[in-house]
Amino acid sequence: MSLSRADRFKELGLWPVWHRREVSGISAPADADPAAPELAGLGLDELRAAVRDCTRCDLYRTRKQGVFGVGDPNADWLIVGEAPGADEDRLGEPFVGQAGKLLDAMLAAIGLQRGRNVYIANVLKSRPPGNRDPRPEEVAACLPYLERQIDLIRPKLIVAVGRFAAQSLLSTDTPISRLRGKLHEYHGVPLIVTYHPAYLLRTPADKARAWEDLLLAAATLRGLQTAASA
Ligand code: URA
Repeated sequence: MSLSRADRFKELGLWPVWHRREVSGISAPADADPAAPELAGLGLDELRAAVRDCTRCDLYRTRKQGVFGVGDPNADWLIVGEAPGADEDRLGEPFVGQAGKLLDAMLAAIGLQRGRNVYIANVLKSRPPGNRDPRPEEVAACLPYLERQIDLIRPKLIVAVGRFAAQSLLSTDTPISRLRGKLHEYHGVPLIVTYHPAYLLRTPADKARAWEDLLLAAATLRGLQTAASA
């Protein structure tokens, strides 16, 4: 019987917290019926076109364009943020503003570079007007795109940056302070939570905690790779 990556990780004693048992209402397992079956057969280019033409929620009325995601389609690392802001809406790429510069610096600190073994996407593909928080119905409408992206990219590790991405992916309202520092799972993919770079720009004192999260993420991936080659 072939074990999932998560099971292999647990079997080797490398899974510090089996979070699925701790958090109620965690996201649907990978074998659940997809929320948007019409996306199931799409490749990345077709999915990008579906996001471009999407009218699944009202955000298409106010956005300039859908912001699909950017990076290496075979990446081990998937970074998931909240939603495009004004710069991303204008340029069509996630994390290109000030927060994006800090995200790039965070990636560089662990030897990563945008586009090389890293893919960057958001929970929402359209900008909420006035940078308001995303609404639950917008998340419900948009999450199937991210789910399909994850199916196609098959990252080895997801880093959820910020409260919103973490809580959306883990279907929980647990505060970010209690989600970070632990290993979680999203549809069978290990997931680490850290602070959003925009928050870190406002609260630089928490950069040390974000650094710990990135080290945990890097160690997790190394552990997985060691387990896979054993
Ligand atoms: N904040 C996000 O969460 N995503 C972006 O793409 C830009 C800012």
